[in-house]
Amino acid sequence: MTLQIFRTKHIRTHSDNEQSLNRCLSAWDLTFLGIGAIIGTGIFVLTGIAAATQSGPAIVLSFVIAGFACAFAALAYAELSAAIGGCGSAYGYSYAAFGELMAFIIGWDLLLEYAISVAAVANGWSGYFNNALTAMGIGLPDILTKAPKLGGLINLPASAIILLLMVLLIIGVKQSAKANNAMVLIKLITISIFIGVAVFHVHPENWHPFMPFGWFQTLPDGKTTGVLAGASLVFFAYVGFDAVSTAAEEAQNPQRDLPFGIVASLSFCTVIYIVVSALLTGVVPYTELNVSSPVAHALKLIGFNSASALISTGVIAGLTTVMLVLYYGLTRIIFAMSRDGLLSPFFSKVNHKTQTPVRVIVMCGVIMALIAGLIPLGDLAELVNIGTLAAFVLVCLGVIVLRITQPDLHRPFKSPFSPLFPVLGMLSCSALMLFLPALTWLRFAVWLVLGLIVYFSYSMHNSQLAKSP
Ligand code: ALA
Repeated sequence: MTLQIFRTKHIRTHSDNEQSLNRCLSAWDLTFLGIGAIIGTGIFVLTGIAAATQSGPAIVLSFVIAGFACAFAALAYAELSAAIGGCGSAYGYSYAAFGELMAFIIGWDLLLEYAISVAAVANGWSGYFNNALTAMGIGLPDILTKAPKLGGLINLPASAIILLLMVLLIIGVKQSAKANNAMVLIKLITISIFIGVAVFHVHPENWHPFMPFGWFQTLPDGKTTGVLAGASLVFFAYVGFDAVSTAAEEAQNPQRDLPFGIVASLSFCTVIYIVVSALLTGVVPYTELNVSSPVAHALKLIGFNSASALISTGVIAGLTTVMLVLYYGLTRIIFAMSRDGLLSPFFSKVNHKTQTPVRVIVMCGVIMALIAGLIPLGDLAELVNIGTLAAFVLVCLGVIVLRITQPDLHRPFKSPFSPLFPVLGMLSCSALMLFLPALTWLRFAVWLVLGLIVYFSYSMHNSQLAKSP
């Protein structure tokens, strides 16, 4: 008999779930969902910081390097989401490949990734939002826009936007997808405006020196710099394509559409990132970009004030979609873990009227609103990349393990050149993890230990799999 913690879950078809969600998302909805989650703080805020302090004009290379790591992981996600499905994403795949304990750990890790991402992006959103209010002469005072650690009382807009999205998600997935599609369109128009203006104002001399900080070095204060450190920072810009896989149970034709949605959204965003980062460092010297809104700032510096204001408005919409999709993904992962008995069954109840898991949505919304309101962006952002990279490593490993243990599994989409590509995915994502600071590793470890306590005190005794014959 297999020890419970190593028991793997039998792979079920895409449609035999007892508590089912409403299947309403098309291939294009899924692609827009991906783009909605991907393009956000990474390109609109971090690109400037990374260019100014870590990569210089070679920020383009940082995006290419991080993009490669993500591409390998995306192919692995595409294979597993089509073959295994389930709204638990990497959590569900680990359950089938490695067994219960590993699945729980990765699910727990995903909760961190998604919840902290939403709270972090809400902080960025709040900054842009308050800038816009200030421009109209009705800016909020510091006490209502800053966390206690930064001298305020609460970051009110950050909390408020999360609560607003909470209501939207309760109303329903199709409605949320519609709102998402509209905002993604605004985001894409915003980027087109930037590209359209910037492309005529490039001064190639701004690209010299191309790599002022070299490949990688640790500074005396412990911070890291260079193109590789830049890659591990701008990796954040790619976080979110995995959220497409959490929509497996709401996709009309998951086996065909999930791989499409994942690969299409990631490829599209990679091209956009390379173009935008090359233009950004081409129109102004990279040393000018260490600001909270580098894209708008660059346009202002070259004299396009109205385009700059338009960009800021688009960014507000753009960051909203990132939060919406990641929030959605978070609730689906909790839903899946709860349905498996690893978290309380209280969370897996689907509301009859809205066909959405209302309890999870409300619980997550309230907790994230508090985190976003009370903890500053800097403290939140660091944790996201390490959690995501760890999930990517395991998803790539899952492809290799399942090809060996379940060679006959029907795979509508196959990651090419296996095991080479999954191995390259594991190596590249692990390498990016190594470039992250030690404090981030420590926080990550604390979260995982907490998870182990939950697993051994609750989940192990309530697992549906353990109860089944
Ligand atoms: N990729 C998302 C962003 O850049 C999380 O905001």
